[in-house]
Amino acid sequence: MNDISKEELMKQATGAMRNAYTPYSGLRVGAALETGDGTVYTGANIENSSYGLSICAERVALFKAVSEGKTGFKRMALASDGTATIVPCGACLQVLAELSPDLQVITKDADGNIQEKALDSYLPEAFKIFEG
Ligand code: THU
Repeated sequence: MNDISKEELMKQATGAMRNAYTPYSGLRVGAALETGDGTVYTGANIENSSYGLSICAERVALFKAVSEGKTGFKRMALASDGTATIVPCGACLQVLAELSPDLQVITKDADGNIQEKALDSYLPEAFKIFEG
């Protein structure tokens, strides 16, 4: 039984998006990650003038949660102010696959339709050093 609705999780992602720092791309992304104990951690993308140091909303939310000792991640909602549906980048997929392999990713398209896909449908064969 999920504690909060998809719509509520998406609302939190949309709220987090407002804190994005994106002077270079102009694209704001927000993430809301539901943990095993039902708490929600949010993140927004944060860019830097040294572009490669920028970080996506997904990893901000995930690292916040992991650094607070959270595990068992269930769902992540992603919101953006762009017209295209957000697809997590390859770097985020790899990190998510290791730390939250059973995740369901919820996205909202430009028409407001909410969709849900398993993380491993985006990255079916993530790199792993060990099984587990
Ligand atoms: N970005 C995210 O935060 N998440 C995604 O899933 C895709 C891309 C960010 C990175 C960068 O700040 C901006 O969006 C444009 O690529």
